[in-house]
Amino acid sequence: MRNLVIAPSILSANFAHLGHEVQDVLEGGADWIHVDVMDGQFVPNITIGPVVVESVRKDTPAHLDVHLMIVKPEQYIPDFLKAGADSISIHYEATPHVQRALDMIRSAGKKAGLALTPSTPIQVVENVLPDLDYILVMTVNPGFGGQKFIPLMMEKVLSLRRLLDASEYSQVAIEVDGGINPDTAFKISQKGAEIFVVGSAIFGKQNRKAAIKQIREQAELGMQQLYTG
Ligand code: DX5
Ligand code: ZN
Repeated sequence: MRNLVIAPSILSANFAHLGHEVQDVLEGGADWIHVDVMDGQFVPNITIGPVVVESVRKDTPAHLDVHLMIVKPEQYIPDFLKAGADSISIHYEATPHVQRALDMIRSAGKKAGLALTPSTPIQVVENVLPDLDYILVMTVNPGFGGQKFIPLMMEKVLSLRRLLDASEYSQVAIEVDGGINPDTAFKISQKGAEIFVVGSAIFGKQNRKAAIKQIREQAELGMQQLYTG
């Protein structure tokens, strides 16, 4: 059985009370905190930068998973590393220098992830497998929280899991992000996802602890079915 991670995305949190929001989901059983960085170029939306990551870092020892939806991420990776990120994912579509960017993250002793938008084929990971800790399969088009899960991404995750398991790099994890709720978490965990980014289905609920518990139970169930039959 592989390691199940629930990573609430603060994109759906109330930024006026960010410290409390982060505390709330961590006390509610979250494993990581997912931070969505958007530049208004790679995606239509603008969110936050390294200063916010730095503030959250001072407030909590929890794993901070930074998802860079920005062009030329290699220009800003040093700033996010300095701000205290524990893992950083960059988009395949955002730079011609994917390997260099991943290597910058790894060289700092942090986990490196490669994110793929829904239309990007899984084969693009093949030449950078030795440089990766995880692959982020976007299950919506990046840019906004609260979107609907794209059904075809179920098969994409399954094909990617098979590709990884047939390679020397089966330890590489699959993260999913967008439209994850108890139902989609159950279904996509059966396809091989193990890191679950969840925005609105956690922060949009009154009882975050109950929401996290339900998503974890469903994801666990799906993973058990995949690995123990
Ligand atoms: C979308 C972001 C996601 C987003 C997920 O571009 O990468 O992390 O916050 O939000 P939900 O879970 O509401 O789809
Ligand atoms: Zn994200």
